Amino acid sequence: MSGEASTGRRADRYYIETWGCQMNVLDADKMAGALERHGYVRADGTIDADVVILNTCSIREKAKDKVFSELGRLKPVKDLRPDVVLGVCGCVAQQEGEEIFARAPYVDFVVGTRATGSLPILVDRLRAGDETARHTVDIELRNDSIHFPFDQIRREVTGLGKAFVTIIEGCNHRCTFCIVPQTRGSEISRDMDEVLDEVRALAAKGFREVEFLGQTVNAYRDARGRTLGDLLVATSAQDGIERIRFTTSHPAQMTDALMDAMAAARPKLCSYLHLPVQSGSSDVLRAMRRGYHREAYLAKIAGLRERIPELSFGTDIIVGFPTETEADFQETLTLVQEVGFDTVYSFAYSARPGTAALGLGPDLPDDVKFERLARLNEIQKDIQARRNQSWIGRDVEVLVEGPNRRNAREWTGRTSEARWVHFPGESAPGRVEKVRVAQVSAFSLRGEIVVGA
Ligand code: 5AD
Repeated sequence: MSGEASTGRRADRYYIETWGCQMNVLDADKMAGALERHGYVRADGTIDADVVILNTCSIREKAKDKVFSELGRLKPVKDLRPDVVLGVCGCVAQQEGEEIFARAPYVDFVVGTRATGSLPILVDRLRAGDETARHTVDIELRNDSIHFPFDQIRREVTGLGKAFVTIIEGCNHRCTFCIVPQTRGSEISRDMDEVLDEVRALAAKGFREVEFLGQTVNAYRDARGRTLGDLLVATSAQDGIERIRFTTSHPAQMTDALMDAMAAARPKLCSYLHLPVQSGSSDVLRAMRRGYHREAYLAKIAGLRERIPELSFGTDIIVGFPTETEADFQETLTLVQEVGFDTVYSFAYSARPGTAALGLGPDLPDDVKFERLARLNEIQKDIQARRNQSWIGRDVEVLVEGPNRRNAREWTGRTSEARWVHFPGESAPGRVEKVRVAQVSAFSLRGEIVVGA
C-alpha cells in the first residue's frame, strides 16, 4: 500500500529507534508493520523522517538516561521541522507517562508497552495537525502487542533466516531489583494454536529458526493449559523449521516436565539455554526474592545436563546488589566456575524506582561494583576462551545471519549452541553451512566452509 499512489504526494516516513531486549525489537517490527499499513514508509534515519519514535528501555538507569539524551539530540530537529511527529514508546513511556513532557515538552505523544495499537491513528492525527492529539498519553494495559496480527509484523524476509515470536508478555515475579513488572505488567500468554499458526506461516516463508520470547518465557500457559513444553514439542514437528530457541527462562519455573519436553524436542531445539542466575549466593538470592537458592539452581543445571548432555548455558548476573558482601560475591565467582557458562551477561546493580531493593540498604559504592564486575568478567573470559578452544578442528552447522560487521568479506552466523562463527566464501543469509573451526577467541569461532558438505 503506497501513500504516494493514493494522494499524489510523498508518503510520510517513519523512523523507529529501539533500545533494550528482543521483545522491544519485535515490538518495533509490529509498530512498523502497523504504520506501513497506514501508508507510511520507512525512513533511513531521523534526518529524513516525518515521524520519529523512540522505543525505549528502562531496565537500568543508564538505559533510561540514553533515551533522554537522544531526546535532547532530537530537539533541534523539532525546532527546525515542527511538523515532525516525535513519540516515546516502550518501557520508559510506560514508567514515566506524563512526566516525559515535563522534561521534553516538544515530545508529541507517549504510548506504553501494551497500547501500541493506538499508534497509527494517533500519528495520523498529529501529522494532520490535530492539536487535540498533542501530548496524548496512552499507557493503558490493553495487550496490543500480544494480540498483534502476526501477518502484519514487518519482517526482513531476506534477513536473518530466523524470526522472533512473542508467546507471553509481562512478569508475575517480584524480584526486588526489577522494574519489568511495572513496565510490562503481569503475565499474559498467547493461544498456542495461534502461535503454531505463526510458526507455520514463518516456515512457509522460508524461515528456518524461531525463537520464542517472553520476559518469563517458561511461565507460558495458555487458556487451555498448554505449556512451553507442549509448544516446543509441537513446533519440533513443523516441517521447514530446523531450529527452535526460547528466552528468557526463570530458574524457579524450569520444571522436570519442561526439561523432559526439551529433551523430546531435540535436535531441533537448540543446545543452548539462557538461564539467568543473578547471583551465586543464597543470601543474595533470597534478598532478590528469586524463589530459588544456589543449590537449587545447580540442581536445575544438573537435571538439564543429565537429559541433554551437550546443552550449553548462558546467564545474567547482577553484581553489587545492596546486600552483597565480598563473601557473597565470591560465591558468584565459584558458581560461574562450577557451571562453566558459554556466555555471561553481567551488570552492575542499578537502583530502579518503585522496586523493593531500595529498602534493603544503601547502594554500594560504584568502585566496589565495578571492581567486582571486572573480576567476574576476567574469570568468565578465561572460561569462555577455554570452552571455545574445544571447538577447534570440529565441524559446526552455522545458520548464516549476514555479513560479518567487522569484515565485509566474511559471513557471520550461529551454531546451535549460539556460538558466533565467522567464515569467508560463498554463502547467503538463511543458509546453513558446515564450517570447520580453525581459530577461536573468547567471543567467536572462525573457520572455512567444508567443501562437499
Ligand atoms: N540493575 C542491574 N541489572 C538489572 N537487571 C535487571 N534489573 C537490573 C537492575 N536493577 C539485569 C538482570 C536481568 C537482565 C535483563 O538485566 O540480570 O536478567
